[in-house]
Amino acid sequence: MKSSKLTEARSYETKYGDQISPQERPLFHVTPAVGWLNDPNGFSVYKGEYHLFYQYHPYDINWGPMHWGHVKSTDLLQWERLPASLAPDQEYDGQGCFSGSAAQTPDGRHLIMYTGVRGKDNSPQCRQTQCMAYGDGVEYVKYENNPVISAEMLPEGCSASDFRDPKLWWDREEGCYYAVVGNRTEDGSGAVLLFTSPDGFQWSYVSMLDRSGNKHGRMWECPDLFELAGKGVMLVSPQEMRAEGLTFHNGNDVICLIGNYDKTAHSFTREEIAAVDYGLDFYAPQTLEAPDGRRIMIAWMQSWETSHFHPHGTKWAGMMTLPRELSLVDGHLIQTPVRELLSRRANPVVHKGARLEGRTKLPGVEGRVLDMTAEFRVPDGEELPRSVAVHIAENESYRTAIIFDPRENTVCLDRTDSGYRYNIVSSRKAPVRDQGGRLKLRIVMDRFSVEVFINDGEQVMSACLYTPQEADGITFESDGAVLLDVEKYEIVLD
Ligand code: FRU
Repeated sequence: MKSSKLTEARSYETKYGDQISPQERPLFHVTPAVGWLNDPNGFSVYKGEYHLFYQYHPYDINWGPMHWGHVKSTDLLQWERLPASLAPDQEYDGQGCFSGSAAQTPDGRHLIMYTGVRGKDNSPQCRQTQCMAYGDGVEYVKYENNPVISAEMLPEGCSASDFRDPKLWWDREEGCYYAVVGNRTEDGSGAVLLFTSPDGFQWSYVSMLDRSGNKHGRMWECPDLFELAGKGVMLVSPQEMRAEGLTFHNGNDVICLIGNYDKTAHSFTREEIAAVDYGLDFYAPQTLEAPDGRRIMIAWMQSWETSHFHPHGTKWAGMMTLPRELSLVDGHLIQTPVRELLSRRANPVVHKGARLEGRTKLPGVEGRVLDMTAEFRVPDGEELPRSVAVHIAENESYRTAIIFDPRENTVCLDRTDSGYRYNIVSSRKAPVRDQGGRLKLRIVMDRFSVEVFINDGEQVMSACLYTPQEADGITFESDGAVLLDVEKYEIVLD
């Protein structure tokens, strides 16, 4: 039986979502049907299709009682809308169905694990417990004995009110489920807890895999654990991070813990901590394993701090990043746009070896929905320029700049003049590998965003752009001589 809250959300999203024209949205990035979206949830493969749910408040463009919105896709680029799947309609989740995950059960059901919130968020009475729902890819039923993990199962010192965002997976070898869940420990900072279940409904605590110890932010949200190139990789979204050099400037930021996960002892030995995205808008990533073995990550392309600054007249707020393939090369996390994007490239514009000195516009290079690769190199015997820039979303009034400093080996993403009408932070820098003045940028734009993949995904910078769409110019600028190869494609869906 569908609750009245779910029925109401579904009729609201149908009525008001249909009033948003496709041009008011990105082409291939996921947005909510209507209203507010934050974290990706339940990113999973079910019966051969990719499903993605999201933290959802249909009634407003600001965060509110959390529902789960739902889309699915066969290629991770064209998403079909499905009706909202969860509403906060039970005693144990009345304050919100918070983030969680999904997996296909061995007997073909789609199993959802999410956090039920009871009692006002951030109050001492608040209780966060882990709950289950199951369904057929469209309709989901909450498990009658929810919650399945509550405070009594937690070890000493763990918090009952900051205990959320389960990421579950089915372990084929062992024939059981595991889930990692975020928690706040007695020192006030975050930890990742591991639980296991034979059937997805009876859960027990296994171990604490890692913790902040107040060194890497406070509460750890949205953990994920998987294997890449034989290493254990954990993604965590810590709140209140302190910046270090060029990394961790977003306050609520994302870290990648690389180390060894001992599957027998259920222990994680961390060897390294790295930033995941150096841009302005990236949080709460979640991954899945595709049928062909790829590890694919998607995240909320937003930062919490700027999430309530909406352009005038907006009917939706919040979008996802492009799904990205992850790999580990020499212990370093590499991210590239899912390869499905290659077959959506159309109308190529190619310039090879263009000599750039000062400001140049290259014929045919413009647009706001595109996939463009630009490679720079300094001609033999010439000095390194001080800066080489690509200006995007540009006209007389607006521009966003991607600026390479070949002497400092940094790339800066600067949206100061992008048209944001609020006093927000507008630029970030990423460190890049010293290649004697060479740099490769892959720039993916989709009307309201830019994602910059530097040197084949060694660093990535993501940002929302609310520049009016008519600002679609692109220019290149260098204060010394550089040679430039550009390949620019439009992205076209069916
Ligand atoms: C992360 C987060 C999660 C929580 C959800 C609530 O952005 O704070 O920890 O489950 O958002 O919407």
